[in-house]
Amino acid sequence: MSKPKVFVTRIIPEKGLSQVQQFCDVDLWTDELPPSRAVMLERVRGVDGLLCLLTDRVDAELLDAAGPQLKVVSNHAVGFDNIVVPDATARGIPVGNTPGILTDATADFAFALLMAAGRRVVEGERYVRAGKWKTWGPSLLLGADFVGATLGIVGFGRIGKAMARRASGFDMRVIYFDPLTPPDPALNAQSVDMETLLAESDFVSLHTPLLPETHHLMNAETFAKMKPNAILVNTSRGQIVDPQALYEALKSGQIAAAALDVTEPEPIPMDSPLLELENLIVVPHIASASTTTRDKMSLMAAANLIAGLKGERLPTCINPEVYKE
Ligand code: GLV
Repeated sequence: MSKPKVFVTRIIPEKGLSQVQQFCDVDLWTDELPPSRAVMLERVRGVDGLLCLLTDRVDAELLDAAGPQLKVVSNHAVGFDNIVVPDATARGIPVGNTPGILTDATADFAFALLMAAGRRVVEGERYVRAGKWKTWGPSLLLGADFVGATLGIVGFGRIGKAMARRASGFDMRVIYFDPLTPPDPALNAQSVDMETLLAESDFVSLHTPLLPETHHLMNAETFAKMKPNAILVNTSRGQIVDPQALYEALKSGQIAAAALDVTEPEPIPMDSPLLELENLIVVPHIASASTTTRDKMSLMAAANLIAGLKGERLPTCINPEVYKE
């Protein structure tokens, strides 16, 4: 019997890729850059399964270009704002993502950014390399304290809660805003409204998915409500922060600093005024990029793809309502 045909839109870690290759006839996109839209529309034609990345938009047009034999879409990410899920559901196509396994790696990295921005690690590194380090200075590159500081977590899902656990190890006070998640009594964290979070937090860390309600949640109005010593950390999605408003807030000293793993757009344009600021750290969307985590993500993405091709329920399905029809 011939193997099912799949399009895999980038080279994923070998662990997951080898499983896909064993089970499927794989068309693998090997470039460093994602396939263009035109290439996507062309390469999905006639496939039984699609393993895609957060850089690939999956919508009605793409699903229809693939054709009615398409059985599954497997996203190699936990976030799935690149996929118009109702379009897949309307066609009875299950969509998989990779929740849970990247929680710790992402929270570790968000905490690393929080500390790096708070203690000006990247500025210090630039200072040394620029040949500016002449002596030990009593007031050189002074930064924030963590003990007793308030961390405001926006979005108290798996990653937000993992941040709260890390913060309690640093004796921080933790408050969070999340109207959808019930309180977790095991965590020493207090639910507050967004106004309170902005007004009281020394650090604000974003852990909410990108939704119409969270698009540009951080904007001129919300920055104006933050403390002048506040530091913003974003490891969620770039579109949650209005980049122009962030620039104004950092430039004017309305907030002290920001550390971004994600930007709008991605990659950040090299002529973005944000890159002129010393009080900004920006890294290339790598919060989940630990070797083990990426191996696990590839295995989960492979497991979802293969389950869908076999007509089995996906281990982690975003739209389980497809199974009710
Ligand atoms: C990374 O951003 C992911 O959603 O997995």
